Amino acid sequence: MKIAVLAGDGIGPEVTREAVRVLENLELPGLTLFEGDVGGAAYHRHGHPLPAETLTMAREADAVLFGAVGDPSCDGLERHLRPEQAVLGLRKELELFANLRPAKVFLGLEHLSPLKHDVASALDLLIVRELTGDVYFGDKGIRESDDGAREGWDMMSYSESEVRRIAEVAFKAAQGSGGKLTSVDKANVLETSQVWRDTVMGEAARYPDVTLDHMYVDNAAMQIISNPAQFSVMVTGNLFGDILSDLASAAVGSIGLLPSASMGARETAHGTYGLYEPIHGSAPDIAGQGKANPMATILSVAMMLRHSFGKNDEAARIETAVEKALADRIHGGDLGGTHGTSAIGDAVLERL
Ligand code: IPM
Ligand code: MG
Repeated sequence: MKIAVLAGDGIGPEVTREAVRVLENLELPGLTLFEGDVGGAAYHRHGHPLPAETLTMAREADAVLFGAVGDPSCDGLERHLRPEQAVLGLRKELELFANLRPAKVFLGLEHLSPLKHDVASALDLLIVRELTGDVYFGDKGIRESDDGAREGWDMMSYSESEVRRIAEVAFKAAQGSGGKLTSVDKANVLETSQVWRDTVMGEAARYPDVTLDHMYVDNAAMQIISNPAQFSVMVTGNLFGDILSDLASAAVGSIGLLPSASMGARETAHGTYGLYEPIHGSAPDIAGQGKANPMATILSVAMMLRHSFGKNDEAARIETAVEKALADRIHGGDLGGTHGTSAIGDAVLERL
């Protein structure tokens, strides 16, 4: 079981360190960790946010544990050298087309949500976001129009095969969690969305045990905060998923607790290839101070064990340990508590 650990920038190394401690504590036979540079850290050392050796290491592993990228000292660089390009490059190069972003309110932490208590406690949503297509990866450019003014353009498109494979992931996820799937698009305006909707509907016949409905993205944004109880699994394109997953995490109110998985097309000897990361960013304002909450990264390790290594029991042990720590009021600064990064790591390890 080969895991590439790409800690990245800001709080990335701190939170990743705790997650690796939890992983190593399980004493899984045959586990090997490799460390690589990524993001601003890689730019400063190698002149590129995603050096070839990091990409090779990630490719040769069975899964990637990713911290965060984002470094204010790189803000002035050309776009292709900025830390964010490392994330986009990894997604594209490793064909990580399916992004799983669970957003749920933990028991006892409803008060962190900006929503009313009873609305917040019903929030338990998995967003399945397409990750390698859409307007993110289409042709783009800046052209000069006849009057000499600049005009930016980005091409949005989805092919049926791209939609079909993300729909398959979403339908299967829905089968495993209550049998309800909401597909989000903007088919009242966009042709891209019409193909999306038609294709998702076409796939539905293969999953008679899943109830499928469709929602326009503007309405979905409204519904996530007004009536989240109606959602279980949501599938959507890259751009809409980017926005809605931030909305859902803000509705949870504790960005330091939410993990994510980006799944690839490749099957390894152990499971499905994937990259696992906390949804929070590099938080440069608190980097290096030992204040960051590592729970989202620790929970990302649980997702890795479940999806890439078929180790469901170990994954559940980690999740239970985190839930117990939260119930015992082991709270980081993001939750209004005083526990630091390594204290939270210790607390989770004790409960493991
Ligand atoms: C995310 C981030 C990225 C995205 C950025 C950093 C390119 O916002 O993972 O949601 O837009 O996908
Ligand atoms: Mg985002």
